[in-house]
Amino acid sequence: RYRDPNAEDKMNPFAEQEAWEEHQIGKATLKYGSKNKKQVSDDYQYVFEDQIEFIKASVMDGDKFDYEEAEDSLEKSRSKSALEALQEERKKLPMYHYRDELLQAIHDHQVLVIVGETGSGKTTQIPQYLHEVGYTKHGMIACTQPRRVAAMSVAARVSQEMGVKLGHEVGYSIRFEDCTSEKTILKYMTDGMLLREFLGEPDLASYSVVMVDEAHERTLSTDILFGLVKDIARFRPDLKLLISSATLDAEKFSDYFDSAPIFRIPGRRYPVEINYTTAPEADYLDAAIVTSLQIHVTQPPGDILVFLTGQEEIETAEEILKHRTRGLGTKIAELIICPIYANLPTELQAKIFEPTPEGARKVVLATNIAETSLTIDGIKYVIDPGFVKMKSYNPRTGMESLLVTPISKASANQRAGRSGRTGPGKCFRLYTAYNFHNDLEENTVPEIQRTNLANVVLTLKSLGIHDLLNFDFMDPPPAEALLKALELLFALSALNKLGELTKVGRRMAEFPLDPMLSKMIVASENFKCSDDIISIAAMLSVGNSIFYRPKDKQVHADNARMNFHTGNVGDHIALLKVYNSWKETNYSTQWCYENYIQVRSMKRARDIRDQLAGLLERVEIELISNESDLDAIKKSITSGFFPHSARLQKNGSYRTIKHPQTVHIHPSAGLAEVLPRWVIYHELVLTTKEYMRQVTELKPEWLVEIAPHYYQLKDVEDSYSKKMPRGAGRIQEDK
Ligand code: CDP
Ligand code: MG
Repeated sequence: RYRDPNAEDKMNPFAEQEAWEEHQIGKATLKYGSKNKKQVSDDYQYVFEDQIEFIKASVMDGDKFDYEEAEDSLEKSRSKSALEALQEERKKLPMYHYRDELLQAIHDHQVLVIVGETGSGKTTQIPQYLHEVGYTKHGMIACTQPRRVAAMSVAARVSQEMGVKLGHEVGYSIRFEDCTSEKTILKYMTDGMLLREFLGEPDLASYSVVMVDEAHERTLSTDILFGLVKDIARFRPDLKLLISSATLDAEKFSDYFDSAPIFRIPGRRYPVEINYTTAPEADYLDAAIVTSLQIHVTQPPGDILVFLTGQEEIETAEEILKHRTRGLGTKIAELIICPIYANLPTELQAKIFEPTPEGARKVVLATNIAETSLTIDGIKYVIDPGFVKMKSYNPRTGMESLLVTPISKASANQRAGRSGRTGPGKCFRLYTAYNFHNDLEENTVPEIQRTNLANVVLTLKSLGIHDLLNFDFMDPPPAEALLKALELLFALSALNKLGELTKVGRRMAEFPLDPMLSKMIVASENFKCSDDIISIAAMLSVGNSIFYRPKDKQVHADNARMNFHTGNVGDHIALLKVYNSWKETNYSTQWCYENYIQVRSMKRARDIRDQLAGLLERVEIELISNESDLDAIKKSITSGFFPHSARLQKNGSYRTIKHPQTVHIHPSAGLAEVLPRWVIYHELVLTTKEYMRQVTELKPEWLVEIAPHYYQLKDVEDSYSKKMPRGAGRIQEDK
């Protein structure tokens, strides 16, 4: 199976990309060590295979491959001197000087708020200190992170520092990926995962310490965790609770946790020179690119950190930067471009932490993740366009959208601070001083006040917390948003009229998914298509990274994609077809390349699917496929997504049924040209317009059949167009 990455492979247009990926995987493998064959489950087999291929290439030069020898060689690469060097590095962190004092404070108090600047060593060091003095003898140490990338990369770092394999003593747990084992004592996890652990273990008995890290981020899950851990700390005096934060405004945390003491770690901080633009920038992305290049050409050595809003923007910037630096010639130093965002494959994330080679400069293109969750050494210049992609929620309509919004002053200051960690730095704000002082809010609004709460309400209800209005929130969510969540859960039959969890709701809560997706899965029992539905749910959970569309092969890629849409089956069924076709080829990588499908996303979908299949067993739903009955599958989807229905308007736009709003079919949807009368959609995204993404045709009578408590006959009456015979589901016409 081994393919020489350097060999010319003219038949495969992706040879170059593939080789590059393998190269990257190789680097990551050496850095973090491979997973041991004996402990990897089948789920991880593909990771293992990839790694073996690399090890094979590098260790054995393509000759006979010996697994043990490869492992040995990896072991050696983590040599003793490397470990010693890491131990020396640990001692240089600001945290180190306060080690004993901190441990004493933790010993003396059950709850402690810890404040220290980003990079001082809170996340990587505190759990290790606690382990060193024995806290792991009676249980694990949990350290929560708001972001998956942070959880993974920090766990990798700590396992290196401890000289153990990732997944053994030090592991991480993120949704759909559990890299821990029996041996694990330090567990880095997303805050959402710890929240889910309450469902199985309401007193968190397996933990001796819970560290709610990056508390200042105030994510929804962190805010809910606050309430829950505060509660269990009362009846578990042996549990230590640490709340750690990067902002100096810690009194709020202390007040909330009954005046818990605050432990401050004085940071080392160098002066940062702040530069503003003289006039607002029309195109911040372009301005950021130009500024990066200007710094590169005119400023002394030091790496650059650029804050962008998301993957797409980062990829665009990467491409333009590559293009523009190509022509710079040999007089200008090399510019190494490193992207980092949540969906970046784990293996590729290592690149940003590699030291910059002598004479070169690194430019890190990052989302907000680099604001506080990740520390990248060597940054001297920060470029801050002043925007972040943020969720916002309209409780009146129940519409959630991800919007690019201006950051807060607190955020802007955090970002600037990233340049002054190792020496004096410079921050280039791509907005005016006037904007900063007059237009930016002081602080970012906590997520709990601007999000859909359905998921959290379902979790709390399953934990037996009924009186949500009186839950001990640090900042309560708007009552309207809570009511909206209760309403939706009632509509989905997860709650009864008294607001109590139903059997359906209890089953739904088992799935780590949005309630509408969980409902779709639970309902698949009735339509005898659970096997098909979990494939669809898994594919939807992967996000929008299934299809690959290289710029120079867009026509081919689009044709390949449309093959799965034959018969205008809609996006959900098309995703199912993609999954099943891949399965039929025995999960072939080659097939993915031929069909312009991203093999990584497919492997992730397979992982997720496997886990969903396990959960189906837990809620005692039989795995049945009903692939030929597309209506059954669509009805099952409708059972979860009936609130997301829309009807075609005369002008080609759509109008949502329940809370009327104008929306459009996303150009990437299979039905974008077909425009069926009635559709159901997975989500709305706001770009230039409000778009429905993942769209499937619907028969309107299904709405009243499936959700009679939600839709009435008059909602689904067709009021126009006798000309259009496609309206298969017309019930009544009034004109
Ligand atoms: O949590 P806090 O921001 O206080 O610091 P940290 O994440 O514990 O990072 C301490 C140091 O560990 C950083 O300055 C980096 O040098 C190093 N680190 C790393 O090299 N790779 C990581 N994935 C995380 C941290
Ligand atoms: Mg940290």
